[in-house]
Amino acid sequence: MSSAQSATDEGSGELKVALPDRVGVLGGGRMGSGIAHAFLLGGCQVVVVERDEEESAAARGRVEAAVLASEKRGLLSGTSQDALGRLTSVADRDALAGCGLVVEAVPEVLELKTQALADVEQRLDPGAVAPATRPLPD
Ligand SMILES: NC(=O)c1ccc[n+]([C@@H]2O[C@H](COP(=O)([O-])OP(=O)(O)OC[C@H]3O[C@@H](n4cnc5c(N)ncnc54)[C@H](O)[C@@H]3O)[C@@H](O)[C@H]2O)c1
Repeated sequence: MSSAQSATDEGSGELKVALPDRVGVLGGGRMGSGIAHAFLLGGCQVVVVERDEEESAAARGRVEAAVLASEKRGLLSGTSQDALGRLTSVADRDALAGCGLVVEAVPEVLELKTQALADVEQRLDPGAVAPATRPLPD
């Protein structure tokens, strides 16, 4: 059993979900950094892919801040160093190879999302899934 899976199995009376070992997040903004943070807390390896190096560094900063805040609140099963050691933030979409799940979280622009999902699909392993984010309903 993977470390990510065993992390979800520790709860009692809750729905048990087998998390993928490696999760990709395309776009590390408000939503993407939150998604990355959640999967790090779940014990997954997480790769955030941004549009360029500057944005990938900014995305890493957002996820780091969220993980450190979770550590302060006692929400980590290990240390923030452990969790952040499972985080990669890059500008190269090829880093999505090997992910069992890739969440698209780029801005709400049709061409951007269409291209992003097409690019992700080309890199997905068989059996992997790639859900897209969408706006909250009015
Ligand atoms: N923010 C919310 O509360 C919220 C809630 C529900 C759904 N959503 C949806 O989530 C999605 C993302 O929203 P957000 O608020 O995180 O936006 P955001 O602007 O905060 O983040 C988007 C990120 O995508 C990156 N990006 C842009 N082009 C890219 C590319 N080609 N490749 C990789 N990364 C790229 C940007 O650099 C940015 O960091 C949207 O579809 C939005 O409708 C957002």
